[in-house]
Amino acid sequence: MTALIIYDSKYGATRQYAEWLSTALHTPVMKSKEVTSAMIEKADLLLLGTPVYYGKFRLAKWLKKYEPELRLKKMIFFIVGGTSDSEEIERNKSVKVSIPNSLLLQSEIYFLKGRLIHSQLSFADRLMMKMAGMRLKDPGKKKAMNTDLDGVSPEELKPVENAFDAFKTRVVAQPLSKIL
Ligand SMILES: Cc1cc2nc3c(=O)[nH]c(=O)nc-3n(C[C@H](O)[C@H](O)[C@H](O)COP(=O)(O)O)c2cc1C
Repeated sequence: MTALIIYDSKYGATRQYAEWLSTALHTPVMKSKEVTSAMIEKADLLLLGTPVYYGKFRLAKWLKKYEPELRLKKMIFFIVGGTSDSEEIERNKSVKVSIPNSLLLQSEIYFLKGRLIHSQLSFADRLMMKMAGMRLKDPGKKKAMNTDLDGVSPEELKPVENAFDAFKTRVVAQPLSKIL
């Protein structure tokens, strides 16, 4: 089975997850910008990592560009962001606006905790965060918007690693089931 990890990252959280996965699964890892159509075509399984910015995956444009090549591929997404498990509506919305419908059926999607350190943000991102915080009425949400967040941990990757193992087992088991 040929697998490839592809990711995009602005501040390094998704890159860190992609590198941990690469080591744990003994699978090559590449930045989305370096990937070619031929590489996608060769892979049986793609593990796709992206952060969420302004409600949309950073990989959204890339997914649209390579939609024809991705159509018949099995994909496991690891989505890195600031939402918690209770924010299912926001998460589902980001999936809907980022993954083309034709790719949803063969995709498994896992949300992982991200990292947001205000002092490390670009001026533009810091400004956007401030403005978004000012628009919020809920004092709890307002405070959360201005607080640093770091949930990045190898433990977060367990469901992704399990999904990889399950796919590998299915692919390897297939010829045997045909014989029987
Ligand atoms: C300007 C800005 C906008 C963001 N928008 C969202 C968002 O809409 N949803 C979300 O879950 N996380 C959002 N985040 C949090 C990032 O997804 C999180 O910091 C992530 O870990 C960044 O990953 P990266 O370091 O790989 O770029 C935002 C962060 C910034 C700085």
